[in-house]
Amino acid sequence: MGLTEPDRERVEEHARQVREMFARISGRYDLLNHLLSGNIDKRWRRSVTRKLRPLLPPKPKVLDVACGTGDLSSALFENIGAQVIGLDFCRPMLERAAEKAPELSLIEGDALQLPFADHSFDAVTIGFGLRNLASVEHGLRELRRVLKPDGWLAVLEFSHPVVPGFRALVNRYCMRLLPWIGGMISSSRSAYQYLPDSISRFPDQQRLAKLMTEAGFAEVGFENLTAGIAALHTGRRKEL
Ligand SMILES: C[S@@+](CC[C@H](N)C(=O)[O-])C[C@H]1O[C@@H](n2cnc3c(N)ncnc32)[C@H](O)[C@@H]1O
Repeated sequence: MGLTEPDRERVEEHARQVREMFARISGRYDLLNHLLSGNIDKRWRRSVTRKLRPLLPPKPKVLDVACGTGDLSSALFENIGAQVIGLDFCRPMLERAAEKAPELSLIEGDALQLPFADHSFDAVTIGFGLRNLASVEHGLRELRRVLKPDGWLAVLEFSHPVVPGFRALVNRYCMRLLPWIGGMISSSRSAYQYLPDSISRFPDQQRLAKLMTEAGFAEVGFENLTAGIAALHTGRRKEL
């Protein structure tokens, strides 16, 4: 990444905290995802495969970064017949993925230093992962690096609800109810306090689209999901 020593320490400390947090909640992660979102998360992941299917060649090679327990990787495998590699830096999350979907190829690795050569994949996806990286900008450049020329990136992430009254309601739910329910079920309230905190810090739809363009993507666009609670951004690797 070409970092100074204090920056490197900050990135490593951030990664350590995120990895330990997901290790603590790995056993309850899927249950809480479905419960806290009222199962809408499944529909959000399907929207990624619906968007990518017409853009990719048959049996595309897809890297699913920050794959966690593998739900997006499985959707890519089942819905578009992709040859999927799921990558994550948290072993307990990967162990869950392996139990649920033995057909997936899973690799332990860091999104900020992907263990793949340039130009390796037809598409790269990242679902609810970009928000957790120490640097969104660096993450986007690294995802671009491993894409084939003209390959597609799909970023599924929480975003900023677009209707003001609805936004206030969602914010209240995220700040008050979600840490309480998440804390009770996972025994890690801090993990479910981190969730709304990290969402509020994450760039909104337009800003993320701009960051993707600056990182070397063309044809950047986004689709709001459930009135902007989440958004699906896509972009095509542009040659610089
Ligand atoms: C909220 S989960 C998302 C999991 C999955 N994509 C999904 O849709 O449910 C975020 C995942 O990102 C992983 N992660 C965060 N930072 C990472 C990094 N730098 N490299 C690899 N994985 C990372 C975490 O370990 C965790 O499994």
